[in-house]
This record gives sequence, structure tokens and C-alpha cells, in this order.
Amino acid sequence: MNMQTLIDTARALVADDKGVLAMDESSPTCNKRFARLGIPQTENARRAYRELLVTTPGLGESISGAILYDETIRQKKADGTPIAQAIIEAGIIPGIKVDTGAKDMAGHPGEKVTEGLDDLRDRLAEYAEMGARFAKWRAVITIGDGTPSRGCVEANAHALARYAALCQEAGLVPIVEPEVLMDGDHTLARCSEVSEGVLRTVFQQLYAQQVMLEGLILKPAMVTPGSSCPEQVTVDRVADETMQCFLRSVPAAVPGVAFLSGGQPGELASARLNAMNVRFKSRAPWALAFSFARAIQQPAMEIWLGQDANAKAAQQALLHAARCNRAARRGDYKAAIEGI
Ligand code: G3H
Repeated sequence: MNMQTLIDTARALVADDKGVLAMDESSPTCNKRFARLGIPQTENARRAYRELLVTTPGLGESISGAILYDETIRQKKADGTPIAQAIIEAGIIPGIKVDTGAKDMAGHPGEKVTEGLDDLRDRLAEYAEMGARFAKWRAVITIGDGTPSRGCVEANAHALARYAALCQEAGLVPIVEPEVLMDGDHTLARCSEVSEGVLRTVFQQLYAQQVMLEGLILKPAMVTPGSSCPEQVTVDRVADETMQCFLRSVPAAVPGVAFLSGGQPGELASARLNAMNVRFKSRAPWALAFSFARAIQQPAMEIWLGQDANAKAAQQALLHAARCNRAARRGDYKAAIEGI
């Protein structure tokens, strides 16, 4: 393991106010999103869509890294260039999702544990060979009546830490994603309490597995009320609660916190990221960045609709969303920017 390379890659992923484009939806998830828009659910449509994303002119000015799915890293552009190569040529670092999904957890009704550790060392070596310099593993934590259980939080944190150790051994920066889901009617305070417990457990496990904190990126959800909680709160309140929780539980050695969007509308995700940077950038020890999928891609997908004729307009929408989030990292995002 070359520690300095890991540190350099992790820093590069959050440098220059850029963020990560998550485009690693599994084929079933991508198909679901295509189906809603009447786009054919074929391998070629997924390939064409991902080619459109990574060939967007100027994307590398706002996007530092792109997370791919296994199918995509093996695909080529129409002209035969491997997708990973096209990403590198755009000045973007290629990454890869390596978990094999969140599965029902035995003995824990309503809870999931993420799998994918079997043969992970070999898969990481193959992905590194294909050009990946970082990886992602997503654990999901559900807030409900009696959940999350201690067993679920500990099992997921342990798996995240073992994944992270294997990544660093292979020279890949692990993106550690313990997603506390927004689904449910829980309050902001409950989300904060659960998020703090999850983060503390994850960092204990990372320590136990001897993961170098300077060479990873944390990818959490923002601390928000559940999506069906009757008491929603202001953008500033989300920023304050998220930062209070993270300042208590995320070590300063971590170079970056790159939020997921979790199904929030794109503008809201950008506004909340902006508020965190306006209010906390000067005292947060880590970069406050983004690693959004839906919040960056959704407008582009809705414009593309599987039609070549719409590709240019879709790329403009993608670029615009990426620029908005870069502006949010600088604390310069305004709802008005959505109009430019
Ligand atoms: O693992 C989840 C994705 O990488 C982030 O997706 O921004 O749509 O929640 P999202």
C-alpha cells in the first residue's frame, strides 16, 4: 500500500470545490429509473446514457470523480474507447461500486446488511487494473420502530471497515457510505441521534481494522427529518444539525465528507450543502463536498429519454447541476442560479 498515493487521491476527490458524480446504479436500479421515463431497459441504452454523462464537455471543471457500476467499467464508447479511459481523458478520476447490495439481515426483520466481501481482494485488483482509483460500498440503516438495532449497525460498520481495509491494501481510496435512510416519519432529533451512533460505530470499526483515515472519504446522508415527518425544518436547521452531529463523531483526519442526496430534490440538496459551507466551512476540519446521483443526474435523464437528438440538451442539464453543486461548495449557490 502506498499511503501517500491514497492520501493524494482522497484529497483530489474533494479538491477545488469539486465533487463526485455517482453513476453507479446497479442495472436493476437504472432500469427502474429508465422504465419510469419510458426509456428501453437494455444494456445498450445504459451504455449510451453513461457515455452521454462522461462525455459532457467541461464536466471535469466541477466533477472530480465518477463512480461506475461493474457493467459500465467493462463497457466502451460507441467509438471503441473504454468508458474508464474516457473519464480519465475528461480529467475525472474513475471509481467503482464494489458492494453486491444490501440484503435482508437474518434475525433482523426490516433491516439490511450489505454483502460483497467474498473475493473482494481479487475484484479490487481487477478494477485497479482497469483504471479505478477509488471504490464505494453502501450500507443502509433504516430508522423505524425499534430500528436500527445494534446488531444491524455493528454488522454494517464491520463490513464497511473490512471493505475499506481491503481497498487501501489494493491502493484504492474507499468511499465509506453508511446511509441513514430518509424514509419514515422520524423527527430531526431522532435522525441526529441515529446518525451519531452509526458514525461513532463506523469509526470504531475503521480503527479496529487499521484503516488510515487520511486515505478515505465519508459519504453520509444529511441529518434531516424523515421524508414523511409532519415537522419539516429549514435549510439552515438541517445544516446546523448535520454539522453538530458530524463535529461530534467524524475524526478531523478524514479529508472529506461527500454527501449523498438520498432522494432529496436536487435544488434542496444543493441549498443544504450551500448552507453547511456558508455556516461551517471555516471551522469544519473536513471538506464539505457532494457525491450525488439523483440530485445531479435526474434532469439530464428526463431530457434525454433515450433519444440521440436530446443528448446535447441533456449534457447541458448535467453540466448545470454539477456547476450548481460546485457553487454550493463555495457557499455561492442561490436558488436563482437554477435559472441561469
Ligand atoms: O449510493 C448511493 C448513491 O451513490 C447516491 O445516490 O445521491 O441518489 O442518493 P443519491
